[in-house]
Amino acid sequence: MKSLFFSRFLLLLPWVLIVIIVLDIDSSRAPLPARAPRGGGAGSGEPRSAAAARPPPQRRPEAALPTIYAITPTYSRPVQKAELTRLANTFRQVARLHWILVEDAAARSELVTRFVAAAGLPCTHLHVPTPRRYKRPGLPRATEQRNAGLAWLRQRHQHLPPPQPGVLFFADDDNTYSLELFQEMRTTRKVSVWPVGLVGGRRYERPVVENGKVVGWYTGWRADRPFAIDMAGFAVSLQVILSHPKAVFKRRGSQPGMQESDFLKQITTVEELEPKANNCTKVLVWHTRTEKVNLANEPKYHLDTVTIEV
Ligand code: UGA
Ligand code: MN
Repeated sequence: MKSLFFSRFLLLLPWVLIVIIVLDIDSSRAPLPARAPRGGGAGSGEPRSAAAARPPPQRRPEAALPTIYAITPTYSRPVQKAELTRLANTFRQVARLHWILVEDAAARSELVTRFVAAAGLPCTHLHVPTPRRYKRPGLPRATEQRNAGLAWLRQRHQHLPPPQPGVLFFADDDNTYSLELFQEMRTTRKVSVWPVGLVGGRRYERPVVENGKVVGWYTGWRADRPFAIDMAGFAVSLQVILSHPKAVFKRRGSQPGMQESDFLKQITTVEELEPKANNCTKVLVWHTRTEKVNLANEPKYHLDTVTIEV
């Protein structure tokens, strides 16, 4: 009797296991809930698998979304952690965003390393110092850091087979970014552009669009720039970055405010630009600048009983 029961059990067991496996596969294919949390820490290195984000539901499954790579140069100063916190709070809400944070420093700082580990989004932490001779007022900032981000991106993708849908943009750590901006830039085919608020001595600057094409620039500052646009005003597809391996930011001969033009000239033409944000009539990013913090009452020597990271 016992052996009959046992043989039946053995006969059924594989079928039960198959049913369990099939059910398991099915449930793992089911769509993620709209607000699935992004658990776990990030660090320098590979991103974790992306989870769904909050902005309006996109029709395509998230796996098919092009990755947005945000290159952020950053440097040590009293407001740095506050700026990075604000930025991470925005980026965390964007699906498939990979943050490339590049410190202007000879080594990775402890503050940024800790910050990245707790940021809760896919993040690559790089560093490169700006040579001392370039740390002067009037000279372009963050040239070496943006180039380090570009080099990392090219190296990561050069051995992967196409297509590698991706979009790159340069996200300075002090600007303000709406979530809608990421939806707009996500569909960049080559190079896309949009208005930037609070820049160039005006409430905004914008590409002027006629019949869906950029035909000029609304700006109050150096209107002679070939691309009269701030770093926050454009995105580039990964394909364009990979197919122009020599396109970088240049120190030599670079004037203030010309970095964007010098870079864009290497990869596109004005005629080719793709206007976003309702034909460049909406401001979705602001060139905010944080005021220098007042530390007049900071004691010369450490007086507090504890040491606190700010
Ligand atoms: C403007 C543009 O918006 C910047 O994209 C451009 O790099 C800059 O001018 C320039 O002159 O080169 P602005 O607000 O004046 O921006 O510049 P910052 O926000 O002070 O710096 C731009 C980025 O570079 C920030 O992410 C900042 O953290 C970083 N940075 C700045 C460094 O990494 N090292 C520095 O010494 C200074
Ligand atoms: Mn700035």
